[in-house]
Amino acid sequence: MTMETSMKTVGTIADVQDVLSTVRTQGKKVGFVPTMGNLHDGHLSLVREAKKRCDYVVVSIYVNQLQFGPNEDYDSYPRTFEEDQELLVQEGVDLLFTPTSHEIYPEGAEHHTVVRVDALDGMHCGSSRPGFFTGIATIVCKLFNILRPDVAVFGEKDFQQLAIIRKMVEDLCMPIEVVGAPIARADSGLALSSRNGYLTADERNAAALLYQVISEAREQILAGERNYDAIHRDGFVKLARAGFKPDYFNIVDRHTLQPATLKDDKLVILAAAMLGRARLIDNVQLDI
Ligand code: PAF
Repeated sequence: MTMETSMKTVGTIADVQDVLSTVRTQGKKVGFVPTMGNLHDGHLSLVREAKKRCDYVVVSIYVNQLQFGPNEDYDSYPRTFEEDQELLVQEGVDLLFTPTSHEIYPEGAEHHTVVRVDALDGMHCGSSRPGFFTGIATIVCKLFNILRPDVAVFGEKDFQQLAIIRKMVEDLCMPIEVVGAPIARADSGLALSSRNGYLTADERNAAALLYQVISEAREQILAGERNYDAIHRDGFVKLARAGFKPDYFNIVDRHTLQPATLKDDKLVILAAAMLGRARLIDNVQLDI
């Protein structure tokens, strides 16, 4: 069946730049939502945010090999292009950019120039996934240079990713407004993620506990508890008892991502844990 759509889909840098140069001569504000596909309501909420702020919205779908470790799920990462394309048409996206790996890393990812944001790497997800954020900063920088959007929208679920991209944009004087959009959750509270597809039905029910445990920690802090080490240990124990393999459960300053001190008042609780085959991450922000 041919889809009736005004959304263009292009795969080369030359073609996407050609389309966008015409769009820019029309004086349109360009919004961008980078994705790795397998789209869910969380991604679509980013698209809606971009549409609210911009006249023209570009989405990219590219599973970026540079952000996957050697033992991670690059090969099995869900690729659902036809469904994704249809969802983006329904959302009224103007342009879909789906480059091949050869287009992005013509000499191979291992020979490509990289962007490292050391100040916010090496902790939380960065310490358990070496190279992960370098892979992300590199592809996002490259996509920004190719597309030159006015606005780029990222989900707050990937809180450290968002912080790293904001820092890269600020440090490298990129003329792009970076917008963070709230976490989209299932009714159970589970943060939406493409990797939730790895969960069995039982695990999916259990997975909601991650958000509950983070929310309980938030309530404790709001009630006046300031022993962050104890809250951190408590979070770990609760998750491990429920069958998770917790990676981290950290109460940090929202700007530096360093462990919260008694002077900090804008906090975020960041957590990551394995449940079955799925690595789940979530966070909750709080002002005290
Ligand atoms: O958040 C993601 O889906 C990816 O890390 C991103 C930003 C599209 C870069 O590959």
